[in-house]
Amino acid sequence: MYQEQTFVKYVRNPELCTNCQFCTTVVSCPSPQRCIGCSSCYLACPYEAIEPIKDNSPRKTIRIYVDGKEFHVPEFITVKKALELVGFTFTKFPEKDKFFSPCETGGCYACAMIIDGELKPTCHTPVRDGMTIITDISSREPLRIVKGFQPHPVGGVGTPWWVKRKGHYIEVACFAAGCNLRCPQCQNYHITYDSVTPPMTPKEAAKMLTYYRRKYGVDRMAISGGEPTLNRRWLIEFFRELKRLNPDKKARLHLDTNTTLLTPDYIDELIETGVTDIGADLKALRLETFMFITGITDKNLAKKYLETSWKAVKYIVDNYYPDKVFLGIGIPYNKAFYPTLDEIYETGREIAELDPNIQVVVLDYRPEFRRRNIEYPTVEEMLKVKRILEDAGLNVVIVQTRIGHIGPGNIKY
Ligand code: FES
Repeated sequence: MYQEQTFVKYVRNPELCTNCQFCTTVVSCPSPQRCIGCSSCYLACPYEAIEPIKDNSPRKTIRIYVDGKEFHVPEFITVKKALELVGFTFTKFPEKDKFFSPCETGGCYACAMIIDGELKPTCHTPVRDGMTIITDISSREPLRIVKGFQPHPVGGVGTPWWVKRKGHYIEVACFAAGCNLRCPQCQNYHITYDSVTPPMTPKEAAKMLTYYRRKYGVDRMAISGGEPTLNRRWLIEFFRELKRLNPDKKARLHLDTNTTLLTPDYIDELIETGVTDIGADLKALRLETFMFITGITDKNLAKKYLETSWKAVKYIVDNYYPDKVFLGIGIPYNKAFYPTLDEIYETGREIAELDPNIQVVVLDYRPEFRRRNIEYPTVEEMLKVKRILEDAGLNVVIVQTRIGHIGPGNIKY
């Protein structure tokens, strides 16, 4: 039996709501008739106009069957919440014998189980009386929301700067919904918080990306997000299929990631599967800055993510770079993140110690999502950051600016 407890529901604050419709067009409410406290709309609202309140309204007890065993839980909660109430544990960093729910917004399907015969995210599905839940999903093809299949003239952090050809497409990419971070200035929030788009299997996504490769005559195929690494099985099967469909030597398989979940065994598996290029978006060097940029408020979790991401780039450099894998490192920049530029210099030193020739791309973070009050970095600011990183010993620094990318030798492309 579950313990009696207070439930939460989310309500719209009309004073803050701008009627932007994000919570209805990008977020799919799993239970419009009565809030189940899934928090998707709360996490996604760009204006923070959705607020949690206590929900003590009466609720009946219903039966659910988890792997054949009967449990009694309250109605109008998510499947994930129901499972927690009966003793299952969900974590924000993968742990053996625990369930993983990194995004909580119904996009990544890392928390998915077979619910009444269908693979559905537990964080985004309401319980119902008589529901059957099967926790082992190995018999099913994994799913994930992926969208935005399109060609790109520039590429990402893990695209070698020298392959860029002004005015030509060089890469096709797709974007996975769901992220484990909560960056208040998320630069891709329309994809990150999407729970409306129907999910795809890895085979479907790989086939679609391959179609785009052929259509646009490029060799590079990328996945970005959101955060692609959240659903490990999906991602590995996606790259495996992509490799199968693109066995030629020219094909490059590119992963753009925040690296917070990339443990050595995960990196090994990705590379065995065929990944050739990794764009590692390191959010910061210092913990306080990391927490400010990512919006992660749990200090232990932030520390775990930060340490994992730096260890990941070190592991890639020590074991795979540059022969087996091309590595690019991304650094977000906005002066709101850095009261002084000392940390930028330290970051440059840290990377230069790994290898001074690693490509580093500094991304000019514009005002977006919940941080619309920050200023869009100027070209001069970005060039200053570039000089600081070069002074720290880095040889290949590219800055993304509002007039385009400026690379080594101040070449603009
Ligand atoms: S944690 Fe449930 S879909 Fe991502």
